[in-house]
Amino acid sequence: MDMELLEKAAETVFERLVLTRAKCVLILGSGWSDVAEAFELVREIPYQDIPGLGRAGVVGHAGRLRHCRINGDDILIFQGRRHWYEGAGWNPVALPAYIAARAGVETALITNAAGGISTELAPGDLMMITDHINAMGVNPLIGGHEEIWGARFPDQSRVYDPALQDRMREAAAASGTDLKEGVYIATSGPTYETPAEVKAYRLLGADAVGMSTVPEAMLANAASIKVAAVSCITNYAAGVSPEPLGHAEVIETTRQAMPVMSKMIHEFVSLITA
Ligand code: HPA
Repeated sequence: MDMELLEKAAETVFERLVLTRAKCVLILGSGWSDVAEAFELVREIPYQDIPGLGRAGVVGHAGRLRHCRINGDDILIFQGRRHWYEGAGWNPVALPAYIAARAGVETALITNAAGGISTELAPGDLMMITDHINAMGVNPLIGGHEEIWGARFPDQSRVYDPALQDRMREAAAASGTDLKEGVYIATSGPTYETPAEVKAYRLLGADAVGMSTVPEAMLANAASIKVAAVSCITNYAAGVSPEPLGHAEVIETTRQAMPVMSKMIHEFVSLITA
């Protein structure tokens, strides 16, 4: 991780968005970008203007950072994420958590698209992540010890904050969402899993599988930011159904689930702001 580059990015963002503090950050994954429309926009900056972030190269990721306002609080919304599998290293992946930490953010909400491993999950379901398994084979905190990321050996026993999980359950109830819960397993991607891998992940205790979120959750948690995370189950994981997997299906499922996603996330952010 290039700490000078991350700091330059934070300074650019603070200058362009005319803010230095924010209450919470939303990191919106595949197909989730339109959730930002539910919040009052103040200013925005395209990712390519943020040093080290670059263009969001994946369809379904808008590639904009928005400064929005709700209940008088400033919030930051990353519309689209960069992934480890894009091969650009950890800087673009770590940047949202770094900027959030520098802005004194208390809460991070991270979203993604995931394949359903558990037979309790069907495409279109929303699953709150209660814990994760890091099967990426890498860790964003490998390298020199940087003070902003807290302890050298960060505790992982409560990466997803229990009180925030309660707020999310309240938000689901208030918005009439049948929110599922489960364990998310992250692989590096960019290949989807084989049916044998999905069977193995089920035995390990995973309910859903994806290629993101775990690095950002680890980093935000290490920086003492409370983390909540939600997956949109966009497909049955490989071998759970006989259909082959593709990104078009992922985007189409999130498009259909958008009204539910949008309502529940707006409700959640309302609960955690003033
Ligand atoms: N596997 C991994 N990542 C994913 C999937 C999946 O089935 N669906 C959406 N993202």
